[in-house]
Amino acid sequence: MRLLVTGGAGFIGSNFVQLTVRERPDVQVTVLDALTYAGDRASLAPVADAITFVEGDVTDAPLVDRLVGAADVVVHFAAESHNDNSLHDPWPFVRTNVIGTYTLLEAVRKHGVRYHHISTDEVYGDLELDDPERFTASTPYNPSSPYSSTKASSDLLVRAWARSFGIQATISNCSNNYGPYQHVEKFIPRQVTNVIDGVRPKLYGQGLNVRDWIHVEDHNTAVWAIIDRGRAGETYLIGADGEMNNRDVVELILELSGLPTDAYDLVADRPGHDMRYAIDSSMLRTELGWEPRYRSFRDGLAATVAWYRDNEAWWRPRKEATEAKYAQLGR
Ligand code: NAD
Ligand code: DAU
Repeated sequence: MRLLVTGGAGFIGSNFVQLTVRERPDVQVTVLDALTYAGDRASLAPVADAITFVEGDVTDAPLVDRLVGAADVVVHFAAESHNDNSLHDPWPFVRTNVIGTYTLLEAVRKHGVRYHHISTDEVYGDLELDDPERFTASTPYNPSSPYSSTKASSDLLVRAWARSFGIQATISNCSNNYGPYQHVEKFIPRQVTNVIDGVRPKLYGQGLNVRDWIHVEDHNTAVWAIIDRGRAGETYLIGADGEMNNRDVVELILELSGLPTDAYDLVADRPGHDMRYAIDSSMLRTELGWEPRYRSFRDGLAATVAWYRDNEAWWRPRKEATEAKYAQLGR
């Protein structure tokens, strides 16, 4: 199989490429990545000799056409991915997430290539803390932020291209990922590296917002299950029953780091901050037989904390600029 992976130098994409090289020796991987502030070739260093890397933009139609034409399957991870950035400057989100997806879909349509679209549970909006419901594939779209609205837009383009043009496409909407190679702007790596630096973790608002955590490797084994066995035109929700509020996550990071569990600060809240996400992944489990490998969030988080302690050379170059941005926002 000739596999084109967009965004393969980012957090989830680089973990996906590493997993693929480790576990799928029959697959030839080409990565297309623009190496934005969020992309890093060092995240692919362990597999650099086993893949082809192309530095380029998913909105570059001639380049995308050439690469898609040489592939059997495309997995589209590339995106602007951080909600806080989208509140400051939405345009790169519209450009990459909407126009980039459109560009890929047109190439996929022309060349008749199988396409898997990586999306987020944030397209469904948020839930109240006491709501017994979880998101399913039939939950209405109701995105809150510029980021999630551009992801929702891209999902709708995929659905339209599948229905109107018959492209062989699947979509997955996953909950919050954690694990190695995640940018220090994101919640867990930001707090873990703050603690390493002797800085108190920072919780938005009261820290009561709930996210449904899944280890990045579990997200990626689910993506492979969908590529292998998913039905064209279908949407699969990916989650591992990992609901936890932000305060509990920070307290666990502090405990795992041998610090008092109240050594954090409450800071200004994110505008429009989604309260709670929760995924019902029963369709993925029953239809495709997928199960997560990581059964304990505590163990997965401990391994992630250890990874950031052991790989300071990977994250240190981005830490100062990231914190300077947050300081401007008072967060
Ligand atoms: P990331 O920000 O870590 O990585 C994004 C990658 O895309 C980077 O390597 C970047 O250089 C590349 N990129 C950005 N714009 C590009 C462009 N115009 N052309 C080519 N490459 C470009 O993001 P992530 O957290 O790894 O997320 C990957 C995908 O998974 C996204 O589509 C995101 O919406 C989705 N997702 C993320 C999570 C999560 O918890 N992080 C959960 C569910 C879904
Ligand atoms: O649900 C999937 C989504 O998860 C993905 O689509 C996004 O790409 C990914 O970034 C993530 O979005 P969130 O906005 O949930 O993730 P973030 O890491 O930015 O924040 C997680 C929670 O932690 C959220 O409630 C905000 C809060 N937070 C975040 C930061 C950076 C804090 O309390 N303090 C912080 O310093």
